[in-house]
Parts: sequence; structure tokens; C-alpha cells
Amino acid sequence: MQGYGLRRRVLVTGGAGFLGSHLCERLLQDGHDVLCADNFFTGARDNILPLLSDPHFELMRHDITFPLYVEVDEIYNLACPASPIHYQFDPVQTTKTSVHGAINMLGLAKRVKAKILQASTSEVYGDPSEHPQTEQYWGNVNPIGPRSCYDEGKRCAETLFFDYWRQHQLRIKVARIFNTYGPRMHPNDGRVVSNFIVQALQGRPITIYGDGSQTRSFCYVSDMIEGLVRLMDTSDDFTGPMNLGNPQEFTIREIAERIVAIVGSRSVIDFRPLPMDDPRQRQPDIRLARERLGWQPAIRLEEGLKRTIAYFDELLRRGAPLTSA
Ligand SMILES: NC(=O)c1ccc[n+]([C@@H]2O[C@H](COP(=O)([O-])OP(=O)(O)OC[C@H]3O[C@@H](n4cnc5c(N)ncnc54)[C@H](O)[C@@H]3O)[C@@H](O)[C@H]2O)c1
Repeated sequence: MQGYGLRRRVLVTGGAGFLGSHLCERLLQDGHDVLCADNFFTGARDNILPLLSDPHFELMRHDITFPLYVEVDEIYNLACPASPIHYQFDPVQTTKTSVHGAINMLGLAKRVKAKILQASTSEVYGDPSEHPQTEQYWGNVNPIGPRSCYDEGKRCAETLFFDYWRQHQLRIKVARIFNTYGPRMHPNDGRVVSNFIVQALQGRPITIYGDGSQTRSFCYVSDMIEGLVRLMDTSDDFTGPMNLGNPQEFTIREIAERIVAIVGSRSVIDFRPLPMDDPRQRQPDIRLARERLGWQPAIRLEEGLKRTIAYFDELLRRGAPLTSA
């Protein structure tokens, strides 16, 4: 049964994580009832602490590798560790979260006739031989490497979404999320932006893997959430996959230098060997998102970095145990 009027009952799996907590906040602001399901593997109560007193917010400790029986109108399936350090910690569980998790959430969507959005990833493109990547590109992914639990898990989840769509006419949306950053990123997850910021704030050397000439594009979190919400609201005949990310490309070295400059840090750059299967280049082609959603990132890197640095600075001042990889 649909929710009354415009107020929808929305399930956000992984809602206590970085993106999930911002999404829960946004959905509450939009006037919906939000059910956040999270097993707290990488998420934290702190991320959603201000939401707990909202009568339209409900928190449930739940691992999506197990079935869930709730009544909802929409599901955003975000549950999955997103950084290599975390998804490689227990790779079998990572694949289970992507694959069993997708089966369980799709089963739920089928049962209650909910619309469901999958947080997929640019990692489905692997180490791309096309640049920038359009949604038509099938990817270049190693099926047996240390990143495969995440990359192939997410690819299989996409397959499941499209099979449920073909076989059961489920209303699906698949977002291929490119690197996103902002407040509430996990401070110890080894991701480029958080790592560099923590190192710069602590005046320690900035670790760059490789020579720093590999490029990345970074999308600020509020832009990403806007894209996800707009994608969910597209007409039922639109499934995606859709790239969401910021096409503006920077070398890893440039990012490090900008962060050092904003922080006013005396950190030096420490070059280390490149890990296996690290993609050299990643840049979204967002023409589809521009056309279908009228969406494009609005926050410039400088501004996004300032807000993110302010968040980590505050964490450090409060004495949070920050280390970086
Ligand atoms: N942040 C990015 O740059 C990025 C890029 C591409 C894709 N994504 C995708 O977006 C989603 C959110 O990423 P994020 O950056 O917020 O990561 P995150 O690690 O901060 O959030 C993931 C959340 O899922 C929860 N979780 C993990 N396994 C679970 C399980 N089995 N059951 C229930 N909850 C579980 C974690 O506790 C955490 O709260 C992920 O699916 C990720 O793959 C993120």
C-alpha cells in the first residue's frame, strides 16, 4: 500500500554510513518517513544522532544479508562497505552484502511493490579502457583480484536488479556512483580525500600511492544526494544505469597540494608503490544525468574541501581517534 499523500515511507539500507546519513537527513527534510537499516560495520550512530529525536525517523540494526520484512514505498539500497580497507577486511561478507543483500532487498521490493534504487559504483568499469566512461561501457574488471569482492559483487547486484525488472517488472533505478567526499566520511578508511585531510591536519606526510599522476574526479556529497533523489523520482520506465559524479578531473597530486594549501599545513608528500588493480583514470560521462535529471554538480572542489576540512578539524579538536592509512 502506498503512503498517504506525498509522505512516503522510505527504507535506506546503510543509512548510518557516509552517504546514507546525508540521504536520511535529506529525505526527512523532504517530508518523508525514513527507516534506516544498518549493521554498523562502517556506519556510526554519531552520523545519525541528530535524526534520532525526529518522530519520522526510525533506526533498525539489521544486516541485509538476512531478509527484512517491513512496509515501505521506496528503498535506497546503500548498504555495503565502500572503501578498499573496509571491503577487503572480510571479502566474503562484502560479496554477500552486495549479492545476498540485493536479493533480499529486491525480494522485499517485489513483495511490497516498492520502487528500489541501487547504489552501484564506478568500480563496475574496473580499470577502464574508455575515457570518460559512459553507461554503455561494459568495463574492464579483474574477477579474481583483491578488489573483485566489491567490483564483481556490485556488478552481480546490477544483474539482479535488471533481472528483477525483466522478470518481475520491478521498478528499479541503478546509480553508478563515482568518488564522493564530504563531512562524515569515515576518517580511517584510506580514501584519498579523507586520508589527505587527516594527514594535513596532523602535519604528517601525505601518502600518495604511485607518482600521483593518476586522476580522479570527486563529487561533493550534497550534489550526490540531489542526484540520487532525482533519479528515484524519474518515471517508472527509466531504470538507468546512470552515472552520478563530478566530471571535473584532478590528479591525485593536485588534490594533495590543494588540501595542504587550504589547511596551511607543512605536510610533505610521501610516494608509495601503487596497489594492485588501482585504476589509472576515472571520470564520469554525465550527459545522461544532465538530460534526464537536469542535474550536474554545483559545489566546486575548493568549497567542498573547505567544508570537509572543517568537519575533520572539528573531529580532531573533539579528540576523535584519527589515524590515516
Ligand atoms: N562514497 C563513495 O565515493 C561511493 C562511490 C561509489 C559507490 N558508493 C556506494 O554507496 C554506498 C554508500 O557508501 P558510503 O561511502 O556511504 O560507505 P559507508 O561505508 O560509509 O556506508 C555503508 C553503510 O552500509 C552499512 N553496511 C555495510 N554492510 C552492511 C550489511 N550487510 N547490512 C546492513 N548495513 C551494512 C555500513 O555499516 C555503513 O553504514 C555503498 O553501497 C557504496 O558502494 C559510494
